[in-house]
Amino acid sequence: MKPINVGLLGIGTVGGGTWTVLTRNQEEITRRAGRPIRTSVVADRNLELARGMTGGQARVTDDAFSVVNDPEVDIVVELIGGYTVAKDLVMQAIANGKHVVTANKALLAVHGNEIFAAAQAKGVMVAFEAAVAGGIPIIKALREGLSANRIQWLAGIINGTTNFILSEMRDKGLPFDTVLKEAQRLGYAEADPTFDIEGVDAAHKATLMASIAFGIPIQFDKAHIEGISKLDAVDIKYAEQLGYRIKLLGIAKRQDAGVELRVHPTLIPSKRLIANVEGAMNAVLVWGDAVGATLYYGKGAGAEPTASAVIADLVDVTRLATADPLNRVPHLAFQPGQMSDLPVLPMSAV
Ligand code: HSE
Repeated sequence: MKPINVGLLGIGTVGGGTWTVLTRNQEEITRRAGRPIRTSVVADRNLELARGMTGGQARVTDDAFSVVNDPEVDIVVELIGGYTVAKDLVMQAIANGKHVVTANKALLAVHGNEIFAAAQAKGVMVAFEAAVAGGIPIIKALREGLSANRIQWLAGIINGTTNFILSEMRDKGLPFDTVLKEAQRLGYAEADPTFDIEGVDAAHKATLMASIAFGIPIQFDKAHIEGISKLDAVDIKYAEQLGYRIKLLGIAKRQDAGVELRVHPTLIPSKRLIANVEGAMNAVLVWGDAVGATLYYGKGAGAEPTASAVIADLVDVTRLATADPLNRVPHLAFQPGQMSDLPVLPMSAV
């Protein structure tokens, strides 16, 4: 089977996780995708890091444009972040007819309409499951799983860093700055953590979800954004005494006249499920008219959880090239010829 070649742009936290998981689960991923997914080239400014991570298994370069212009590369995975170089690289990859997988919520929230229009015109995919809520497959749930519904609203804890800060401050009484440093050390925070703390990252994600939920263009500039920087330890304490927890929520809600799109700290009764989403965990509640409330919970940041979403997109894109066009996703998830004879155990062995 001819491998599908991936050009990986950025081998930092998420890029490193993507490399590790693709390597570790290669066999199982191939059985799902129908073709091996091979990272043939990695671009990173830190060549030493890239060489150390890849151990000679992929070509390494510090010229990301050489990757998006490489005729051997089928899918570009953009994990650089930011709006500038990342945008040029994504647009160039699309112009070259390559599919793109990205975790870059900032880029899509600000330039997504232009990027998706270019991809549509060129007939390529720009997949972005990893851009919202890390490892939770919320894009797939909203776009596919709930497609029968008129979605009325969604509300989510969609920034791991701020949820980690609020949880640790409440639980351990630690000061804000100490917890933020820990979130950075654990790889949760953005390169510029102001985006986390001031609610901008959550607003990027809420904007993307609002677009998918309501079928509206991406309108980040219309979002109301308020972060957690004005909260004191005493606010968290008083909230707890009153039976509430403070959570930074991203909310998108349909009204007759339009759509509410907002990020701000909220008081949630402490018995509610979502109030008990702690640390870097994320959760998104979605209310659809047919299904009612559904809740999606999981790790919203970090290397391997985010890589989980990046690789799911890689499998989706690879299946475009492998599957019977009438049955793009195999009925039982794995390619029919790739089923395993792993036995189901008798209860005595359980
Ligand atoms: N900085 C982000 C967060 C990373 O803390 O949620 C995942 O998007």
